[in-house]
Amino acid sequence: MKTVIGWNATTPVPEQHQFGQHLVHQSGDLHLDGMSLAALASQHQDPTPLTVAYLPLIQEKISFLQNTFTTAIAKLGYQGAFHYAYASKANMNAEVIKATLAAGAHYETSSETDLHIIRAMKAEGRFDDSKMVICNGFKRTGSAYANQILALRDLHQNVIPVISHENEVAGLAAASGKLDVGIRIKCGGSSRDLTSPPKANCRFGLDKASQDVVLAKIAQADNLQLRMLHVMVGSQVTDEDLFVQRLAAAIKTYAQLKREFPTLSILNIGGGIPAQMTLDFDFDYALFAEKLLLKVTEICAEYDVPVPDILSEVGRYTVAEHGMQVFKVTAKIDNESDTPWYILNGSMMNTLPDFWALSELFTVLPLNMLDRNFVEVTLGGTSCDSDDQYPNVKRIAKEHGISDVKLMLPEIEDGEELYIAFLAQGAYQEMLGGNNPVGHCGLPRAAKLYLYDNEGAAQYVPSPTQSQVLAQLGYADPVVPTPAYGMPDVWELFTPRTKLTAASTFAEVR
Ligand SMILES: Cc1ncc(COP(=O)(O)O)c(C=O)c1O
Repeated sequence: MKTVIGWNATTPVPEQHQFGQHLVHQSGDLHLDGMSLAALASQHQDPTPLTVAYLPLIQEKISFLQNTFTTAIAKLGYQGAFHYAYASKANMNAEVIKATLAAGAHYETSSETDLHIIRAMKAEGRFDDSKMVICNGFKRTGSAYANQILALRDLHQNVIPVISHENEVAGLAAASGKLDVGIRIKCGGSSRDLTSPPKANCRFGLDKASQDVVLAKIAQADNLQLRMLHVMVGSQVTDEDLFVQRLAAAIKTYAQLKREFPTLSILNIGGGIPAQMTLDFDFDYALFAEKLLLKVTEICAEYDVPVPDILSEVGRYTVAEHGMQVFKVTAKIDNESDTPWYILNGSMMNTLPDFWALSELFTVLPLNMLDRNFVEVTLGGTSCDSDDQYPNVKRIAKEHGISDVKLMLPEIEDGEELYIAFLAQGAYQEMLGGNNPVGHCGLPRAAKLYLYDNEGAAQYVPSPTQSQVLAQLGYADPVVPTPAYGMPDVWELFTPRTKLTAASTFAEVR
């Protein structure tokens, strides 16, 4: 695990210092492609945290990986193509899905909801017939998900259910018309620990015996043809060699099956392509693409079969980096703890579940005061939960064996307005945290700002009102309006607001 989660010195950040390609320090503020993030955050005065979604980054990420594979294919003279599919489970917000479709991505589904999203996108003319719909997840014959997959074919032919259990075959075999299918094979190993032995305990994919049963059923069915072999070796895999090494067994299976099933033509390597989560990230995408294509070429040559097209269902890499979680520091507490506490205007547990569930490391940068001296701090959420702190160095040491993680932020006096952002939180965090109006300790969900470009095209979705929060919990509106006694900022969370409602702002897109 990489460990550089912020500015790692006590001295100010030099003027024009770049954090990656898009973030730069200018006159004390952090600018995202020319926009001051602190200015954006302070314009949106909702007292909850603000989720910023910078949509152009999604297109950039997709184009970069597609170009990387196109270059590797040309350089090596590889005889297959690369297909980029977006794994929607990482972030299903409509604006995100639209961005991935506009960038040319195919679509990987994991539940019935995806099928409705695809219908909606088709109705808007955003989902042309060439797009593949790759259906993963459990889809037992007769389930709503399985039936919606089959029903979609009336509207969109290019649907490929990937069979991951014997009980999925009957429904597909009974469906009318030809149907391309895939099979998902079991790939041992924990998704998080690639060094664990290959025969690890894992509920996903067909073991050898089930593969044989399913393949026999596919062969017998008049309407089914095997088009895809799917495997998934892990998530956020940051070692190029290990990634390819873990795929080798599946590539061999592909080559063997290709002899029996000439219709097989796509090797789906699942997810796992990593995103930049920390500042010392150094995954070499071009190297990975080349190593993968060379390995596939080598194994297919051994078995004397043509090489497949490669498809990846890319979740985290596609959307992690477009999302930032902005908080305001509302108090500084110096109470003889190991470091001063910077208390935030919201709960990190509600907005970044992976940081406490998995001790995931996220990069945190200040949005203003970058020209100050920095001190080591711990961030505290507004919830009453002792886990609502970042970084939780004791847990990180226990769970990842890492002892050098520290977070440095500008030194402030209590009451000064410091904004900070957790970077690369656009994948999974919102979906796992849930879209309910209310979270832990009754705190309303974050407000959201979609940025369509860096020139002002934006959509703002305010945080839920207290009425919405209470309605979600089954209560009537608060009867007593909160009096204004000059309360400190943090208590504004409980002030009923009369600003725009979510419904009205959704209508005012661009
Ligand atoms: C079947 C499948 N494909 C793709 C993905 C996306 O993985 P990642 O976010 O690592 O790209 C997942 C994630 O859980 C998955 O289960």
